[in-house]
Amino acid sequence: MVSKYSKEDIPEIETLGLLINPKFKELFHLNNLNKNEEIYIFKNDNLVLGFLHILNLDKIEILNLVVDPSSRREGISSLLLDYLFSEINKITILEVRESNIDAINLYHNFNFREIARRKKYYGNEDAIIMERSNK
Ligand SMILES: CC(C)(COP(=O)(O)OP(=O)(O)OC[C@H]1O[C@@H](n2cnc3c(N)ncnc32)[C@H](O)[C@@H]1OP(=O)(O)O)[C@@H](O)C(=O)NCCC(=O)NCCS
Repeated sequence: MVSKYSKEDIPEIETLGLLINPKFKELFHLNNLNKNEEIYIFKNDNLVLGFLHILNLDKIEILNLVVDPSSRREGISSLLLDYLFSEINKITILEVRESNIDAINLYHNFNFREIARRKKYYGNEDAIIMERSNK
């Protein structure tokens, strides 16, 4: 089930975040979230299996989207994105590594399109900037 996060979910969210970025806790201070940030979580049996972290300004920016490795390809990210877009109808942007085909496929399913590239942003690979219109 998807919902907004509560303070008690933060340790589990951080555990998932650390899977993709060893500096997750220092980069994103979840205990002191900016008022324009929101985190949606997917929980099953009271366990956080995935989360979607956004910045909600004139556009939405997706800051983090992570699903527990043992629960991937079960539609959890799709449910999180469905929830977001049912709540907020704004242009949405994100950045993804060019090698991250799993995520790029997911975003294509949600009508994101490549709008720019940051060449060699990740050392030897590009960052792709994707955008989804609000129409
Ligand atoms: C990318 C990620 C968030 C996808 O989460 P997920 O819950 O497994 O995604 P879903 O089950 O909702 O998949 C939806 C669609 O995305 C695409 N997709 C997801 N995983 C894929 C994979 N391993 N290979 C190919 N396509 C994939 C498919 O189109 C899939 O639809 P389908 O299963 O009907 O073919 C997850 O793999 C993850 O946490 N990866 C590590 C973190 C990350 O890369 N986050 C994104 C940073 S921008």
